[in-house]
Amino acid sequence: MAANSEQRVLSGMRPTGNLHLGHYHGVLKNWVKLQHEFECYFFVADWHALTTHYEDPHIIQESVWNMVVDWLAAGVNPGSATCFIQSKVPEHAELHLLLSMMTPLSWLERVPSYKDQQEKLKEKDLATYGFLGYPLLQSADILMYSAGQVPVGADQVSHVELTREVARRFNHLYGRDPGFEEQAEAAIKKMGKKAAKIYLQLKSAFQEQGDQEALERARALISEQQNISINERERLVGFLEGGGKVILPEPQALLTPESKMPGLDGQKMSKSYGNTIALREEPDEVERKIRTMQTDPARIRLTDAGDPSKCPVWQMHEVYSDKQTLEWVQEGCRSASIGCLECKKPVIDAVIEELRPIRERGREYENNSDLVRSIIADGNEAARDEARETLERVREVMGLSYR
Ligand code: TRP
Ligand code: SF4
Repeated sequence: MAANSEQRVLSGMRPTGNLHLGHYHGVLKNWVKLQHEFECYFFVADWHALTTHYEDPHIIQESVWNMVVDWLAAGVNPGSATCFIQSKVPEHAELHLLLSMMTPLSWLERVPSYKDQQEKLKEKDLATYGFLGYPLLQSADILMYSAGQVPVGADQVSHVELTREVARRFNHLYGRDPGFEEQAEAAIKKMGKKAAKIYLQLKSAFQEQGDQEALERARALISEQQNISINERERLVGFLEGGGKVILPEPQALLTPESKMPGLDGQKMSKSYGNTIALREEPDEVERKIRTMQTDPARIRLTDAGDPSKCPVWQMHEVYSDKQTLEWVQEGCRSASIGCLECKKPVIDAVIEELRPIRERGREYENNSDLVRSIIADGNEAARDEARETLERVREVMGLSYR
């Protein structure tokens, strides 16, 4: 295993309804790409969903398996990524609790999404303990797997920031266990003579002369080492930086490029606007939805010229069409030489074509729910093994391993 936090990706999705093309173009395509480049953990954030849906939890239950099928259909590969359900790894709750002991209340109150979401979801009572703790639960998710990279949308970047602060505080408080130096020395030896010598030189260059480049080079040296564990790696980083051991490494947000996929009405595609095309939508339904899409209101008759910039169909062309088609739309719309249905045809074809393999794979998994259950059962197990290890370390430094 590549026990290296730089190489680890973790991301979660809340099961609160069906996935649609917006999720595909935003999040899922990105996950599918990342799974080839990193060691990925993807999970169903059912507890996070409960913080906002505690009054109607049935939607969570209904969405969980459907969402997993959507992931698999979109190309998430359980051979490359570990897929699991948050509540099936109850260690997340324990880590959340332990982190809560040392997290200042003001850090949570200051997270922008706390007030924003309360404003936005006025119909729900979100003045709860659980909702305030939402970003800290997310920190526990991330720190549990020493994930260095966290793909999130712009709205979640502040949660990753909080996680970094929590990790820093944790390491500061608990990273100086007795025997730290001896253990660091042992880890240095394990790197081999040559690397050990370079490490020590770089360490003193950084600590004595404040040489930042030496720090970078030493970090790179540590991450190149093949035969040391994640624990030893963090110890070496901690020793290098002059602090204690890094028990919980700080993650980075990996900003997910914003999806350009518009909804059927030209607004952002979203369940709450009722303007979606589902990920496993039938071709007839795709066709019906796009055929009935609103176009430039100025084009009442075929002979009326239109303006693509006032038409949501154009936005879809921008996602799906090549240069030649784009020119054909511009020219045909403005000169009223093509009709709107004619104009929609290439988009309909492109969406159907894009969804075809997703629908086919989805159907296989739908017809084989045992397989889906076992993929998740395996993922839960693998995640739990990792989670148990982290908690052992955490309990140990917090003085909770009574032996
Ligand atoms: N809060 C995230 C969202 O609403 C979901 C999530 C929960 C998550 N835990 C996470 C994302 C950990 C990244 C990492 O989209
Ligand atoms: Fe929209 Fe195309 Fe009709 Fe122009 S021709 S209004 S771009 S659907």
